[in-house]
Amino acid sequence: MFGIIGLGGVGGMLLAHFLNNAGYVPYVVTRTRYGRYLIKFGGGEYEIRVRLVDKLPSDVKYTLIAVKAYDTESIIDKVVNTPVVFQNGIGGVELIRDRLGVGYGAVITYGVTRSEGTVEVRGVGEVILPSSVGEVADTLKAGGANVRVVNDIEPTGG
Ligand SMILES: NC(=O)c1ccc[n+]([C@@H]2O[C@H](COP(=O)([O-])OP(=O)(O)OC[C@H]3O[C@@H](n4cnc5c(N)ncnc54)[C@H](OP(=O)(O)O)[C@@H]3O)[C@@H](O)[C@H]2O)c1
Repeated sequence: MFGIIGLGGVGGMLLAHFLNNAGYVPYVVTRTRYGRYLIKFGGGEYEIRVRLVDKLPSDVKYTLIAVKAYDTESIIDKVVNTPVVFQNGIGGVELIRDRLGVGYGAVITYGVTRSEGTVEVRGVGEVILPSSVGEVADTLKAGGANVRVVNDIEPTGG
């Protein structure tokens, strides 16, 4: 089972949409809640199905983190099992790894805009994941995401 922290445009809603398409209704911890979540994507409009909770259940295998990088500190105690950090901002995955001892970085290059509980995909990009979380990659791919798996998502050489 999958959990998501942060139900914003990219993380929450886009990832939840792909998980829905793959047959999952993810548990979600978020701050501001809306009555209904919709995604406009490729000329269609789809309801996003999530289970809003205050705390992720212990059977969550992967926690997909989609808060802004500067909010990472505030969600560390909400992570269950393996964290995968979807952020453009820097420092989030390092902080998670430092505090929890495990954490994988991922990148989303889709372009979206959000207005309350409605998100619109304006640019189709990629979801780039490290090979260590192949199960997440396979699931998002099954849900229609454009997924690329790489061996080294954080090259340090120059
Ligand atoms: N927007 C894009 O096109 C785009 C593209 C690629 C990558 N990214 C990256 O993806 C990440 C997420 O972006 P986004 O556009 O999805 O951001 P966003 O719309 O601001 O969503 C962040 C979500 O996290 C929630 N949140 C913040 N602190 C929380 C806490 N302590 N507990 C629970 N939920 C909390 C926010 O709640 P509130 O609604 O209450 O603030 C919001 O639902 C960023 O690092 C961004 O750089 C964005």
